[in-house]
Amino acid sequence: MSTMLGRLRESLAGQGVFHLLRWRLTSRQAVFTRIYDSATWGSAESGSGTGSELRATDNLREQLPGLLDRLGATSLLDAPCGDFNWMQHIDLPVEKYYGVDIVASVIAEDQRRYGDDRRSFAVGDLTEADLPHADVILCRDCLVHVSFADAALIIENFRRTGATWLLLNTYPEVERNRNQFTGSNWRQLNFGLPPFGFPEPVESMADGGDVDPSRLALWKLPDLPTVQPNGASR
Ligand SMILES: C[S@@+](CC[C@H](N)C(=O)[O-])C[C@H]1O[C@@H](n2cnc3c(N)ncnc32)[C@H](O)[C@@H]1O
Repeated sequence: MSTMLGRLRESLAGQGVFHLLRWRLTSRQAVFTRIYDSATWGSAESGSGTGSELRATDNLREQLPGLLDRLGATSLLDAPCGDFNWMQHIDLPVEKYYGVDIVASVIAEDQRRYGDDRRSFAVGDLTEADLPHADVILCRDCLVHVSFADAALIIENFRRTGATWLLLNTYPEVERNRNQFTGSNWRQLNFGLPPFGFPEPVESMADGGDVDPSRLALWKLPDLPTVQPNGASR
């Protein structure tokens, strides 16, 4: 019974009319602002959640600068950047870092504490914002929180920036991707499966530590198929 209800919810989450209704009732920005205001993700260290704590990012913090170096990247778009909890500890080998998040209070604090000539932060909804061009886009722990429809919009918006590389965390052991409404809940996603159908990544590294082990995987953005929110990819 609960499986049937789950499937029904999942199917409704993919319907445009429900999406529109939900948007009218609670915008994406209101949803994520409330999460930070009420510390919903339950981490004493980071408002962005336990996955953004230092213990979850040991390997990532060690490996990311070397990866950007090897790619010859001079700019990075961190989308979304959250509260910059772990990223503040990395000496990034890029000339320009752009952090974007939908929560205005988080971005104001990021800009106040960490903004400088090289690092700038801006409020934006990744589904539709006019994003800056960067060589590499890092999208960590975000698509797991959003509906397939929103994930498709975000990936297409990334493609429009003309970036060469996309870094996303994926869960290769997941056998079927579930749809959900955008919000505080999350589920593991395997980007090799529908509705994403991404090819094998160029490379990947361990991410999440013991908190939530995943692979932070690298793809050439222009090589990725267009995601169909209804479950197919082309
Ligand atoms: C779990 S946090 C991860 C933050 C960061 N990537 C990290 O690794 O620490 C997810 C973030 O996604 C942001 N977010 C969710 N939907 C968004 C959207 N449509 N546009 C911009 N930011 C969004 C939330 O505000 C939140 O800061």
